[in-house]
Amino acid sequence: MGLLKFLLSLSVLLAICTLRHVYGNAELEALMELKLSLDPENRFLGSWTKGGDPCSGLFEGVACNEHQKVDNITLQAKGLSGKISPAVAELKCLSGLYLHYNNLSGEIPREISNLTELTDLYLDFNSLSGGIPSGIGNMASLQVLQLCCNQLTGSIPTQMGSLKRLNTISLQNNSLNGAIPASLGNLEMLKRLDLSFNSFFGPIPTRLANVGSLEMLDVRNNSLSGVAPRTLKRLDKGFRCENNPNLCGAGFPALRVCTSFDIDKVNVDGIKPLRPNITDTETEINPESANFHLHCKQTHCANPTGIPQTAVVAGVITVTITLTGVIFLIIIRYRRQKQKIGNMSDPSDGRLSTDQAKELYSKNASPLVTLEYCSGWDPLGDDRNGIGFFREYSSNYRFNMEEVESATQYFSELNLLGRSKFSAVYKGTLRDGSLVAIRSINVISCKSEEADFVKGLNLLFSLRHENLVRLRGFCCSRSRGECFLIYDFAPNGNLACYLDVEEGSNRVLNWSKRISVIKGIAKGIGYLHSDEANKPALVHQNISVEKILIDQQFNPLISDSGLPKLLADDIVFSTLKVSAAMGYLAPEYICTGRFTEKSDVYAFGVIVLQVLSGKCSLTSSLRIAANSSRFEDFVDTNLRGGFSETEAAKLAELALLCTHELPEHRPTMETVIRELKTAGDDDPEVETSLRMRAAVEDAL
Ligand SMILES: *[C@@H]1O[C@H](CO)[C@@H](O)[C@H](O)[C@H]1NC(C)=O
Ligand SMILES: *[C@@H]1O[C@H](CO)[C@@H](O)[C@H](O)[C@H]1NC(C)=O
Ligand SMILES: *[C@@H]1O[C@H](CO)[C@@H](O)[C@H](O)[C@H]1NC(C)=O
Ligand SMILES: *[C@@H]1O[C@H](CO)[C@@H](O)[C@H](O)[C@H]1NC(C)=O
Ligand SMILES: *[C@@H]1O[C@H](CO)[C@@H](O)[C@H](O)[C@H]1NC(C)=O
Ligand SMILES: *[C@@H]1O[C@H](CO)[C@@H](O)[C@H](O)[C@H]1NC(C)=O
Repeated sequence: MGLLKFLLSLSVLLAICTLRHVYGNAELEALMELKLSLDPENRFLGSWTKGGDPCSGLFEGVACNEHQKVDNITLQAKGLSGKISPAVAELKCLSGLYLHYNNLSGEIPREISNLTELTDLYLDFNSLSGGIPSGIGNMASLQVLQLCCNQLTGSIPTQMGSLKRLNTISLQNNSLNGAIPASLGNLEMLKRLDLSFNSFFGPIPTRLANVGSLEMLDVRNNSLSGVAPRTLKRLDKGFRCENNPNLCGAGFPALRVCTSFDIDKVNVDGIKPLRPNITDTETEINPESANFHLHCKQTHCANPTGIPQTAVVAGVITVTITLTGVIFLIIIRYRRQKQKIGNMSDPSDGRLSTDQAKELYSKNASPLVTLEYCSGWDPLGDDRNGIGFFREYSSNYRFNMEEVESATQYFSELNLLGRSKFSAVYKGTLRDGSLVAIRSINVISCKSEEADFVKGLNLLFSLRHENLVRLRGFCCSRSRGECFLIYDFAPNGNLACYLDVEEGSNRVLNWSKRISVIKGIAKGIGYLHSDEANKPALVHQNISVEKILIDQQFNPLISDSGLPKLLADDIVFSTLKVSAAMGYLAPEYICTGRFTEKSDVYAFGVIVLQVLSGKCSLTSSLRIAANSSRFEDFVDTNLRGGFSETEAAKLAELALLCTHELPEHRPTMETVIRELKTAGDDDPEVETSLRMRAAVEDAL
């Protein structure tokens, strides 16, 4: 019995020892591998011996916990000049790895992310290269991450945002780039974040700035842009941001004050909107020209050699807010509050008041900052140049920043066709020699929800019609904080260029051109409104003579179709103020706050009257003249009588019907197109009046 007991306990003891030995061996083996790579010439780690016990205290810099497992490796400033072996991942209980102030090279091994107990990782002041392993998101215990002063490249893995215990991140003095992931805003315990002396670009995510525990944020000497979040002011001297030429913000001594050009949403951060410079393409609304008076500018219609040149005039125009605008806003907001009319899922109805939108906006991080980090679709995806491609589409749609830059000669002012608060349009020449118009849109003016933006982009690419400007491609640049839509260039300017022209000018459109332009516009709008050909029915929302471009053959091309689907709601809303002030906005919009096909029909009717009269500004006397077929009072005198009275009467009637006060009385675009089929045919036999034609059709 005694013997049995003894034997039993002996075997248990033996088993334990064997186990311990095996286990100890695994850690020992890992340590030996680590030694071999850290100190290949065995100059500094001679105490780490194959036959030794790591927990004996004899292994230099190795400390074990009470379970005899390696807890800390403390080898800072030991003159180590090797690499970090992946074997370090075998030290499962490691809580501290201190290898700073050595001369370690090579990459941080991916396997390091298996160290889920690690709280302190000090690899700073070495010569490490390569990227920060994305698996770092698994190191759930990590509290301090010191990687500064190496030669690390690549960007901060978004996964870092899941390390809830992180309080210190030091990444300064590396060659890191990319945008600062908004996911860092999830780090509730973050106190110190040093990103200085790298090549980070893009904005400082608002979410990050809002982290309550943050005490120090250093972003000096990077290429950040945009507006510094106002909340960073609380850090006082803890926020360092010098030497980011494109970063701006009010109340930060190291930053310049933002201009309207920086970002149109300056006021998101509490800065009074600056009165934007009125550029040539911007429209200043004269308070007297309210409502039915239209106001066009043609500054870009002729280049010095006299050839009309402007392809696209910045669609949404910065407006000096006039009495008209203010009243309009008040009415709409009042109505909204009272009625809450509108389909919640349609962002195009501009439901948000600008203030609401701003408030919403400031709660979200910059749009596309999240976009940058989605896995499936990455318009700002990395490649050698930090350039994004629109990957979902065939190579035809792919443009890279280099192409955009060279096409526009690095966004030369000479190529600038127009600029608005959120967007600028440049003329460009692609390598194949074709001319394009490149619309740049500030990323923060884009929809904040990635899914919405992608959906909008898909829609834009699905639009194909001979009377729509063709979208050729898309790309985004993180460093510029802009996305680019690349369109075919229309060499003959926009329709506004052919209005209010002087008598005898070569810009006077002859009658048949006017008819074909009107027909083309109708077909284009009709296409948008139809839900055929794999596209949903779409309301343009913002049709005006400026949006109608004229191609080489004098075909009209509608521009910016679907654009509201890409833009943030408050930006869309601000565009409405312009069309309202310009007389294109259907009257019912003011009551309902909604866009329908019939509001496009209204704008179309206005354009028909403009084309017939050759004038931008339509007066009510002109309408009356049109109504009573007093041709001499409403048809453009520049035509010198060179027009068909039947057709003019027909078109006037159609235009008046389209601009009917009540939307239900306006014809659909389909009807308009049908009616127009008969107009402008040279054979007088076919010329029947609208009414007769309608009567015939009714009878059939
Ligand atoms: C490992 O390092 C941490 C942090 O310095 C320390 O608290 C802990 O006591 C160390 N463990 C051992 C076994 O020395
Ligand atoms: C580290 O984790 C990966 C999975 O993430 C696993 O395949 C690998 O075996 C682990 N390595 C070690 C040394 O534990
Ligand atoms: C650091 O290591 C590199 C090689 O990786 C070597 O050229 C350099 O001299 C070392 N520097 C120091 C201070 O040991
Ligand atoms: C980072 O680099 C700058 C410029 O070379 C230097 O002034 C600064 O001391 C460095 N920071 C650290 C932590 O070494
Ligand atoms: C930091 O930025 C300033 C201004 O751009 C520049 O003069 C300086 O050389 C930069 N320092 C480093 C270490 O890049
Ligand atoms: C805007 O106006 C200011 C002052 O009038 C001027 O200094 C600045 O250059 C202008 N900016 C642009 C883009 O025209």
